[in-house]
Amino acid sequence: MCGIVGYIGDKLVAPILLEGLSKLEYRGYDSAGIAVCDENGVTIEKAVGKLENLYKKTDNGTTISGTKGIGHTRWATHGKPTEENAHPHKSERFVLVHNGIIENEEFLRSKYLKGVNFVSETDTEIIPWLLDKFTQSGEDTEMAIRHLMSEIVGSYALAIIDRENPDVLYAVKNKSPLLIGKGEGFNMIGSDSMAMIANTNMFFEIHDKEYVVITKETVKIYTQYGKLIDRAPFKAELDLSDTEKGTYAHFMIKEIEEQPAVIRRLIQKYADENGDISVDKAIVNDIQSCDKIYIIACGTSYHAGLVGKQLFETMAKKPCDSYIASEFVHNTPLLSEKPFFIFISQSGETADSRAVMVKVKAMGHKILTITNVKGSTLSREANYTLLLHAGPEIAVASTKAYTAQIAVLAILASTVAKEPGLDIKYELSKVANVIETICSESETYKYLAEKYLKNARNAFYIGRCVDYYVCLEAALKLKEISYIQAEGFAAGELKHGTIALIEKGTPVIAIITQENINLNTRSNIEEVKARGAKTLVISTSSLSSHNDKIVIRDVHPLLAPIVSVVPTQYIAYYAALCKGRDIDKPRNLAKSVTVE
Ligand code: M6R
Repeated sequence: MCGIVGYIGDKLVAPILLEGLSKLEYRGYDSAGIAVCDENGVTIEKAVGKLENLYKKTDNGTTISGTKGIGHTRWATHGKPTEENAHPHKSERFVLVHNGIIENEEFLRSKYLKGVNFVSETDTEIIPWLLDKFTQSGEDTEMAIRHLMSEIVGSYALAIIDRENPDVLYAVKNKSPLLIGKGEGFNMIGSDSMAMIANTNMFFEIHDKEYVVITKETVKIYTQYGKLIDRAPFKAELDLSDTEKGTYAHFMIKEIEEQPAVIRRLIQKYADENGDISVDKAIVNDIQSCDKIYIIACGTSYHAGLVGKQLFETMAKKPCDSYIASEFVHNTPLLSEKPFFIFISQSGETADSRAVMVKVKAMGHKILTITNVKGSTLSREANYTLLLHAGPEIAVASTKAYTAQIAVLAILASTVAKEPGLDIKYELSKVANVIETICSESETYKYLAEKYLKNARNAFYIGRCVDYYVCLEAALKLKEISYIQAEGFAAGELKHGTIALIEKGTPVIAIITQENINLNTRSNIEEVKARGAKTLVISTSSLSSHNDKIVIRDVHPLLAPIVSVVPTQYIAYYAALCKGRDIDKPRNLAKSVTVE
């Protein structure tokens, strides 16, 4: 979703802002803009569409002088992607960029802003005018910011320029992510560390309802009531090369091929001093003593949660269910007596998941977050965190985070299991090796994707049990980047209605990795074949039949989803490639979904 960057220092700021915005492109956006201050005032430039339009308009930022500025990539919520609606927005005195949504916009307009001529359709534009209003009534800038925070309801990360305080930038946060980057002789604002990593790897976390006063030498963080907070910066484990795609054509293919390394890294990171896999005992005790595990997540992370249910129930004999966060928040099921919550989120910033976290935290339940981003909101607000150690995932389509999520869930479930079960370290090493073999066969997936999907309008993935969960993920991947309408379906359920959609040439891809359902799924393949479907089977070698086109080496059946998903990631990638799609930044989508 929207991205923010800000800089105050001695360097020409526009190129820094543009570079920061380019590192935020992965979040999804449809327009961009920057505001830069020099001794003559504030220059604002905006462009609709790709960031390169803004690069062109400003000759790579070189046409604008000034060493303090803010920038923004906008993912439209209120109003179309136009220059008027693009940020920064301004009043007479203030210029600012905003991530989030102001919920009481109408009320504030009628209370304070009658007679103001707004130029955009955005909720954001009220904010600089409110600051104008408050400062005109005699408040200084910080008082006006505190006043603003007491009036606006909703989510907001703001970077603010006050024309009357040229040596200062202000930042404000509630619910939307925001970090401050600490440099030598400069400081920065960013909606995530990627926007700033080319300049610094030291960051201050900013919590909800805090504001920050930033000069090139100092960063002062305050509560909403003006109390100064003493907070040390932290060092990010990220470096610039992690955010670049090197020789790969797209981040997605790079991230697919990083998966063996990610699994091996996890084995290493979760090994204790004896080399045995272990997890914080407090987490294990809490899960052992709970009566049900509730997994909360969205999208791909929800699909990993479904596999997690299988792992906890089979390995640890704990009842478990995985829930879609945006449903759970408004339709909360009757909870068991002693629930334990696991939130799964690559970004750790997903607003839907956070809304549930706020709710269950208020009920006093214990929470674990499994995330890729250390220090993210969902991590900070949980009792415990387990990291995915997958490195930054930049393609909108999640791949390595999904497999890392299942691997961490498997590590956790096997640690919670009281009976000695599978040797998780050995089994995960095997998984890493098998994924490596799959990656070496990418040409086969390319050929099959072109053959089955190049001209397809719709497609099905079918499977049973845990294979069905992988089908849901495989279909999501295919649809989000190729725009082929794809559905993941429980193979046995097709005949209850959906089989009516099968016609001559409909691609149906089946996944078979579990012995107990092998023959059942094969019967379902015959049913769709008889109705004209073009079928393709992905199976494990011990269950394969001579017609199966993708046969993957056997791993422990409980870990099969980590490997069976990989060919489907390739298929989605190559289907999108042959259709000429924007693979890393599919239309309408954002990487980090920070609005509900
Ligand atoms: O960052 P999160 O894991 O919380 O994101 C949740 C979903 O938005 C995400 O998994 C989405 O479905 C994927 N990008 C799809 O590939």
